[in-house]
Amino acid sequence: MRKINIGLLGLGQIGTGLYEILTSKKAFFERKLGVSFEIVRIAEKFPNRKRKVHPPKGIMTRDALSVVRDPSVDIVVELIGGTTAARAVIKEALKEGKHVVTANKALLAEYGDEIFELAHAMRRWVCFEASVGGGIPCIKALREGLAANNIESIYAIINGTTNYILTQMTETGMGFSEALAGAQAKGYAEADPTLDIQGIDAAHKLAILVRFAFSGRVRFKDIYSEGIAQISSDDIAFAKEFGYVIKLLAIAKKTADGVEARVQPTLLPKSHILANVNQSFNAILLRGDETGDVMLYGRGAGAHPTASAIVADLVDIAKGSMEGPVDDASVIRALGSRVTVKSITSILSRYYLRFYVIDKPSVLAAITKILGAHQVSISDVIQRERSAGKVVPLILLTHEAPEKNVRAAIRVIDRLAFVKGKSQVIRMEET
Ligand SMILES: NC(=O)c1ccc[n+]([C@@H]2O[C@H](COP(=O)([O-])OP(=O)(O)OC[C@H]3O[C@@H](n4cnc5c(N)ncnc54)[C@H](OP(=O)(O)O)[C@@H]3O)[C@@H](O)[C@H]2O)c1
Repeated sequence: MRKINIGLLGLGQIGTGLYEILTSKKAFFERKLGVSFEIVRIAEKFPNRKRKVHPPKGIMTRDALSVVRDPSVDIVVELIGGTTAARAVIKEALKEGKHVVTANKALLAEYGDEIFELAHAMRRWVCFEASVGGGIPCIKALREGLAANNIESIYAIINGTTNYILTQMTETGMGFSEALAGAQAKGYAEADPTLDIQGIDAAHKLAILVRFAFSGRVRFKDIYSEGIAQISSDDIAFAKEFGYVIKLLAIAKKTADGVEARVQPTLLPKSHILANVNQSFNAILLRGDETGDVMLYGRGAGAHPTASAIVADLVDIAKGSMEGPVDDASVIRALGSRVTVKSITSILSRYYLRFYVIDKPSVLAAITKILGAHQVSISDVIQRERSAGKVVPLILLTHEAPEKNVRAAIRVIDRLAFVKGKSQVIRMEET
């Protein structure tokens, strides 16, 4: 029986879930996996806070560094979040010769190079399954199940909060603010939802997926992200009329002239497999050159789904490091050559364009003329019934066009006297 001593940093939502699983299923892991996990130290900012679980007082401390330096600890599990203290303690843990498991996507997205390099130098493991897609084993699928493949593209719904909000807007017709308030009331959105609704949380996860799927270093600042706060109930309704739904997608694909990686609200055909991933669920659609499409679906957050992924990492380390210090395949893979991400203005896409215009003759002609002058051609139009002199919505779908041309055309259109307010531009995906 392999005995593994764990130093747990952070007894918040996920730390508590992990504690519950490791203590309640101790015998199950021993029997099924041949590994005995013991949480021997826990660091928590307020050790005496009232909480769901009651670890022995003697193993609790406020001092995370004392946990990572404790010689009895084999694996450090970092679940405090953020990029300051977490970065310092993970580096210290690696220097102390500990393996590390973390769910911290912000840290790995922003400081991945530094952490993986140190892990490589120390020949220690850094496992991060829980950092993307919560309970969905996407890192393991990429590393093992899809090992034979060059990954060509990733299309993913990897933020449950925004998926829940967009689902509510689609199903009930409510606006963004009302849907956000509902998500907060139900515990699907934080009191400060900025990271989620601006697409930053999804971009953190995409940075990790790109690094891993495309086997290379990626700079977080190169990943473009756009959130959902500007999506209106009108946009959702018009998209529906055209046969589409709006989802916040994390997209990465290899193209002839480089890698595209971005997070964006996206019009997807209703028949698309990701269009039917609703509520707070996540899904990751990977396209391998040998397998074609593989989709992983499940709970992208929550204490037990996320802790389940952490246990999988603990098992990998327990088994993989048995023979002494061996390089962690994930660390090696994360340190490939630099992935150069194309700038957003150099991509090609189809677009949904929504304008509010004063209803008068020749408005449509004037707008399509400007788009035409920028080589943006129209594939479909919705023009509301006439209401002379009133402001009415005008919606156009385009054929594939260069983003920089669309932006230039919109700048001209937004200056027209009969166009009211800022125009809406949402990218479309078909595959
Ligand atoms: N929640 C999810 O569903 C989910 C899913 C996937 C990944 N994750 C990731 O998992 C990590 C943990 O998330 P969580 O939701 O469990 O967060 P959380 O509930 O806020 O838990 C973090 C805990 O760590 C404590 N803490 C903060 N700084 C500390 C320090 N320097 N030393 C000791 N304890 C410290 C916090 O105390 P205070 O509360 O007093 O600050 C809190 O109890 C984050 O990186 C998050 O991104 C979360």
